[in-house]
Amino acid sequence: MKIISVVGARPNFMKIAPFIRAIKQHNQTCVNNEKSYIEHLLVHTGQHYDVRMSESFFQALNIPNPDVNLEIGSGSHATQVANTMIEFEKVLLKERPDWIVVVGDVNATLACSVTAKKLNMKVCHIEAGLRSGDMTMPEEINRLVTDRLSDLLLTPDKLSNENLRKEGVAEEKIKFVGNIMIDTLEANRIEASELEIMNIIQANLLDTDSAQAFIPLQEDEGISMPGEGSAKNRFAVLTMHRPSNVDTKEILEPILDFLTGEVAADMPIVWPIHPRAKKMLQKFGLWEKATECNNLILLHPIGYHEMLRLNMSATIMLTDSGGLQEECCVLGTPCLTLRWNTERPVTLKEHGGASVLVGNNINRIREEYQTALKTGRIPQRPELWDGNTAVRCVKAIVDYPN
Ligand code: UD1
Repeated sequence: MKIISVVGARPNFMKIAPFIRAIKQHNQTCVNNEKSYIEHLLVHTGQHYDVRMSESFFQALNIPNPDVNLEIGSGSHATQVANTMIEFEKVLLKERPDWIVVVGDVNATLACSVTAKKLNMKVCHIEAGLRSGDMTMPEEINRLVTDRLSDLLLTPDKLSNENLRKEGVAEEKIKFVGNIMIDTLEANRIEASELEIMNIIQANLLDTDSAQAFIPLQEDEGISMPGEGSAKNRFAVLTMHRPSNVDTKEILEPILDFLTGEVAADMPIVWPIHPRAKKMLQKFGLWEKATECNNLILLHPIGYHEMLRLNMSATIMLTDSGGLQEECCVLGTPCLTLRWNTERPVTLKEHGGASVLVGNNINRIREEYQTALKTGRIPQRPELWDGNTAVRCVKAIVDYPN
């Protein structure tokens, strides 16, 4: 059996790493059984191309070099999707795989599943059935189209099974396998825990000319800052990249003001900044405001282990990333999700998780921030988020009736 799996953007890499490992394990068990041996090719669409957004994850997570890189790069959604389809079609016609495996909800997921189905090839979607219900989110469109086309829909939780059933997906196409991101978390937990937080910060600091002089003060686990109200070892982690938060000045500026004016007065904020967010801060004339705040520590995008290490000790996470919401759930980090909706309800407090939706309304963010500070870590483990999801994914594909 020949499988082509696809990655395009940063959140795909942690999902494909365990899948490739599980294929290797599977192949070791079928030495004398040519039929079930899996020949695997990895295609990178090249949507994310910076070393810090892509290559560093391949190295850190031991992902083999892609067999093909489509080198699509940046562009509008139509440009990215169209160029991916044109280039991916050539790969499919040459390789004629039995299965195309797509993960997550990025433009590569959509473009490659459409291309494959147009050639009447079988598609498996890992992380199927997530729904935010928000059609202004590009990822929601990607999820809907991919799931509508896929032959095998591997879901991370049972709420996703329900979503698919409601949309009329045939029962035999749906398989609940658990969350593959958590395979990567579990496989890398120990390695991450050995990193020193101060080293992560110093190695990844953005060169901003700002006066972040307090940073080397502490040698121990956390970050200490001078001044009133500082509490040793407390720090917040921030990530923000969604167009709904960063593409409008009227939304981005009040969030930044809250962070620099209120959160930074309580504790340092570590912000590994996404290229889109940086670009927008500069475009709106807000970059100086960000760099001049002593307790807002701006970092380059950081590696997988580095982010996991920060998350393990953070007092609070403020994020619009779906993956971080899930990791906070398992690690128990109180998480303010800077969105009005989520496709990952299982991570919310009402479902036992650690995250609360705060949107981009400052009063709501403030209120939940205060509440979260009083809450300790409460790690949760939703069903089948056990580190063995990738093995179930491979088995589901191998067992699929032809
Ligand atoms: C994409 C995904 C999103 C995911 C996010 C994680 C889609 C629709 N969106 O959004 O689901 O959460 O990745 O990062 O697929 N850029 C660089 N270097 C890079 C990549 C991008 O500088 O390596 C810049 C580009 O110039 C671009 C901007 O960042 O303008 C945004 O990149 P893009 O790939 O369009 O989407 P993301 O916002 O990263």
